[in-house]
Amino acid sequence: MEKQGKKRETFSSGLAIFFATLGSAVGLGNIWKFPYLAGKNGGGAFVFLYLICVLLLGIPIAIGELYIGRKSRKNAVGAFKALKEKPFWSSIGYLGIVAAFLIMFFYSTVAGYVYSYVFKALTGSFANLKNQPTIVAVKTVGNQFDATVGSLMPPVFWQFVALLLVTIVLLAGVKKGIEKVTKTLMPILFILIIICDIRALTLPKASAGLSFLFDVHFSEINIKALVTALGLAFFKLSVGMGTMITYGSYFTKDNNLLGTSVKVALSDTLISLLAGIAIFPAVFQYGMEPAGGPGLLFKTIPLVFSQMPFGNILLLLFFMLTAIAATTAMISLVEVIVVFLNEEKGLTRTAAVLATTSSIFIVGALTVNPASLFGSIKLMGKSFFDIFDSISSNMLLPLGGLLIAIYVGYVAKKEDVTLELSNNGTLNNIALINIILFMLRYVSPFLLILVFLTSVGVIKI
Ligand code: TRP
Repeated sequence: MEKQGKKRETFSSGLAIFFATLGSAVGLGNIWKFPYLAGKNGGGAFVFLYLICVLLLGIPIAIGELYIGRKSRKNAVGAFKALKEKPFWSSIGYLGIVAAFLIMFFYSTVAGYVYSYVFKALTGSFANLKNQPTIVAVKTVGNQFDATVGSLMPPVFWQFVALLLVTIVLLAGVKKGIEKVTKTLMPILFILIIICDIRALTLPKASAGLSFLFDVHFSEINIKALVTALGLAFFKLSVGMGTMITYGSYFTKDNNLLGTSVKVALSDTLISLLAGIAIFPAVFQYGMEPAGGPGLLFKTIPLVFSQMPFGNILLLLFFMLTAIAATTAMISLVEVIVVFLNEEKGLTRTAAVLATTSSIFIVGALTVNPASLFGSIKLMGKSFFDIFDSISSNMLLPLGGLLIAIYVGYVAKKEDVTLELSNNGTLNNIALINIILFMLRYVSPFLLILVFLTSVGVIKI
């Protein structure tokens, strides 16, 4: 366990760095959010916008964050002090801490639903779907989901379990906790998704699902879809709030930051697409509504597996792996707050972990679940769930991203950035670094300002 003043930990190898970073990126964003947002915003056209946002904004800003983290070897707030910047820039870190809390409030709730589905699959709650006519089966899974969301006890209990696991891993530290868990679990997750895809693709109406996901109808492209795609790109790649600063601070000196970012972004995008391929064929097969919203994952996956041999086991594995993905992502969100409290506020790592996860549990459990004490309160027609989600994804992450782009593009010395990203000149990548700097200066900020003004309502659409 790391105490203040002790030497800071780093990940132990390039592979460990890749899996830990991918573990942060891959999460409910891929398996739950990406498919339902694509479903709501026109399918292929949205996927197209999303890919553009990853390329023009996600990757450059992730690289910018990793630069800040590895050069300073500090938490998201302390990093800017260590780099001797004006106090203003530490606000990136503070915004990040706020965003990490807001995201965790709803993220841990949805993770609780996923864990409760693992338990349901384990106890055979979906076994009878097999013998039901399709219309009835579709209704049954819908009712199951509504009952889960509408009740207090299983979801809050499972939210607690999920946060407990996060706590245990974080108490074990960077190498023995984060690194070990992600390196073991990420490869398994990948294999499982492929198996689910094979099943989904053999459904008779698979091609309707695939065209929904991959056919781009340019008429569906609009500014609202763009704002959503942008928020999702940040959320997916865990950028805009200091997660990559924090993880970057654990990267080894010889790691190629550009290479790692591109590999992680591509693998993460691949997993999102694979999750879409697992879900949309089933949506069309069973005549469900692709724009069905946050319940999509929970209502389709049990059906996908219900009619096949070993379906129950696959169903169990699918939700287990979603739970794993959610957990490794939560680990990275909570780590941002933990190292901040440890390095800036003098808490021991243990105290920081316990304080953070318990406050997330208390606030999350009381506000986000519709059945909980404050869960039915609506502010301006929005539930806490929607408020936390939209403030973090559509405002705080893009704002954090904007500040990071401006900082790395204009404030940091170009020489410092070039030296750090080329590992003091040992990597022959000056041309690439210049492209990234160009994006951070001239492309990302303007796109972000446009989108940000739109999402806070200054530009009307
Ligand atoms: N990227 C994760 C997902 O897709 C969620 C996540 C982890 C995240 N760390 C983050 C989102 C930091 C925003 C910022 O599920």
